[in-house]
Amino acid sequence: MRILYPENPLNKTQADEPYHEEFTFVRSAGYNQCSLFDFDALDFDEFNPHPRIQTGERVLYRGWMLNSQKYKTLIAQIEHKGGVPITSHDDYLRCHHLPGWYQQCSNFTAETYFWAVDEELEAKVEELGWDRYFVKDFVKSNTAKLGSIANSPSEVRSIIEQIATYRGEIEGGIAIRRFENYAHSTERRYFIVNGTPYSSDGEVPFMVQEIASIINAPFYSVDVVENLEGKLRLVELGDGQVSDKKAWSIFKFVEVIAANA
Ligand SMILES: Nc1ncnc2c1ncn2[C@@H]1O[C@H](COP(=O)(O)OP(=O)(O)O)[C@@H](O)[C@H]1O
Ligand SMILES: [Mg+2]
Repeated sequence: MRILYPENPLNKTQADEPYHEEFTFVRSAGYNQCSLFDFDALDFDEFNPHPRIQTGERVLYRGWMLNSQKYKTLIAQIEHKGGVPITSHDDYLRCHHLPGWYQQCSNFTAETYFWAVDEELEAKVEELGWDRYFVKDFVKSNTAKLGSIANSPSEVRSIIEQIATYRGEIEGGIAIRRFENYAHSTERRYFIVNGTPYSSDGEVPFMVQEIASIINAPFYSVDVVENLEGKLRLVELGDGQVSDKKAWSIFKFVEVIAANA
């Protein structure tokens, strides 16, 4: 397996800053099939990973999130160089985009609607009759000043406008989620590799095992949190290639990377 990292634009022998530690550690741990590439050049269909991808080699990516189109480009470029991507475009969207996993996990997670942003939006939101709404696009919550929690249909609209303004695009579409009361400090990230769940402390909750058996994708993350009644809830899935390792030590996390091999 070869692992691809985005290179540091100021030093092309190193991975970009957030991936520097991981790249260095994975290489020194004996995974010497690591390559770097120019992430921005992908937009111009330029892809020259160094060292080169060998013909027939399985390829895992670790780096910045890519939108659907850019991931498609990455996959096509890897294949063009003779590599075999571990995560297909369909598998990427299955976990990276909320609608990709929502139906199969609806028992575990906040009730959600995927609606077009048109003039009927406020009326549909009003009809839900909820006190509060959690608003995000298919990928990320709103980190700009309004945050993601709306108290009214008009605030839902304002949050959507803010996402579009601050991030430049709404990725995929908008999700309106039922607000749930979480004990935020209890949120934990798990990784699933080929159906096997991994945790940073060796404990895997039953709900995470169930999700691992339901969602069939090669490598993804599962974020769970306790609500105020102490019940475990699923916050979101993510593609493992673009997921932060969060509280995981690098020593534990490389085991997850190695499991992909
Ligand atoms: N339905 C919800 N109700 C209340 N809080 C939520 C809800 N969904 C997510 N959150 C909180 O907001 C945070 C960010 O939401 P999340 O869906 O994980 O988006 P992001 O992709 O930005 O991490 C979560 O870690 C959780 O604390
Ligand atoms: Mg999250």
